[in-house]
Amino acid sequence: MPTNSQLSTLSSVALPRSILVVGGGGREHVLVRTLAQSPAKPRLLCAPGNAGIAQEALCFPVAVDDIAGLVALAQREKVEFVVVGPEVPLSLGLVDELNKTGIPAYGPKTDGTRLEASKIFTKQILLKHNIPTAAAGIFDHAADAIAYVRARPAPIVVKADGLAAGKGVVVAQSHAEAEAAIHALLALPVSQLSTLNSQPPRILIEDCLVGEETSLLVVVSGRDYVILPTSQDHKRIGDGDTGPNTGGMGAYSPAEVVTPALLARIEREIVRPSVDAIATEGIDFRGTLFIGIMLTPSGPSVLEYNTRFGDPETQVVLPRLATDLLALLWAAARGELAGFPLAVKPDYAVCVVIAAQGYPEKFPKGDVITFPLPGDWPGQTPTGQQAGTAPAQLPPQTTVIHAGTARNAAGQIVTNGGRVLGVTALGPTLRVAAARAYAGCDAIQCASKYFRRDIGARQLNRS
Ligand code: AMP
Ligand code: GLY
Repeated sequence: MPTNSQLSTLSSVALPRSILVVGGGGREHVLVRTLAQSPAKPRLLCAPGNAGIAQEALCFPVAVDDIAGLVALAQREKVEFVVVGPEVPLSLGLVDELNKTGIPAYGPKTDGTRLEASKIFTKQILLKHNIPTAAAGIFDHAADAIAYVRARPAPIVVKADGLAAGKGVVVAQSHAEAEAAIHALLALPVSQLSTLNSQPPRILIEDCLVGEETSLLVVVSGRDYVILPTSQDHKRIGDGDTGPNTGGMGAYSPAEVVTPALLARIEREIVRPSVDAIATEGIDFRGTLFIGIMLTPSGPSVLEYNTRFGDPETQVVLPRLATDLLALLWAAARGELAGFPLAVKPDYAVCVVIAAQGYPEKFPKGDVITFPLPGDWPGQTPTGQQAGTAPAQLPPQTTVIHAGTARNAAGQIVTNGGRVLGVTALGPTLRVAAARAYAGCDAIQCASKYFRRDIGARQLNRS
């Protein structure tokens, strides 16, 4: 618990009065919504935003990869703090450039984003600092990689080095499948993966870990950190974790598979050593370290680092914070995170992602969405045009977060991406939170609406 003197120090910190959130998905909408709840009542701007964010923040049509445009926007609008959502502007050096102009930002500089952009860089740090992770080899020639694979049991995992939008990891069930993946990933033109990939292409081959996956969002500032509430994503498109991988189809928090004892072990064996290793490598990391973890029978093991908030995890984690998010992110950006008192609500949270039918492959855009009336969620404005003559109302403690939405020429809110909306609900139990989120999904009308029916089911079935 914080001491009284720490609390008074925190409450006396001057918070920024004008904030630019960079991004335009569900993660950025929930960031805007939560920052708006700050007692500092900041002016909120967003680039590029989406149709939902535009109801709560001033949106500017600057793309997330237009670094010069974003810096110019922040300067022109006299923004005092920038919060960066997606990995692309981080990897392209947005925070480095903002810092040069004296504008504080939340998010790592490019030296820190390598932890997400290069799986080989991360694996080398994990192995060097004895942080639990799967044994691995690094290769740039198919023949060496194939010899390595043949000497190890299947299944085995083949990974491209760089950002690959989820397409760079193959969990091969047989040696033949692994060999095909080696040829395919080494042959991929670098530009097809990302401009940040290693040149020439390199791959990582690692042992297959078995267990349940979880991820942890950690707000990091140098050697200080605050662990946010646990959560679990649902990556596959279909019920029962079937079908292709997606950006995430729903999440819940807390993830009770991570018991307090297990969380203490993860902090001791993974979080503290990771934060120390990153600092020891000379990286002054101020942002979110999102640690993907496999809970294996022999203990937790790191699958990956991301260097940003997860989506949709953020949509269940932030609504559970009882602490001012702005104070937290500002403290991290300024190197003042030590002793930060995080308070968490006892409620459970569930987020169900509404996608466009066909996602993650081909899906339509431009379908009109009609919404129920907003309920009692703090800070929620009407989410869009309402349905029919007697529109339903969202259940208590339930809100609609916009991800891929836009307005058409007639001013109607329409689908504009694969993941369209997130319906998030809080409740005294996971069951109540899930029932509220699903009632919210059912009350939304859209021709191409698709969502999983089993978000949270694994934890519900366990209890
Ligand atoms: P990554 O981007 O490295 O997290 O990999 C994407 C997904 O592939 C993970 O979320 C896991 O489901 C799976 N995966 C990655 N590495 C392994 C591994 N060593 N063993 C088993 N599954 C893995
Ligand atoms: N939900 C996974 C991610 O944000 O990468």
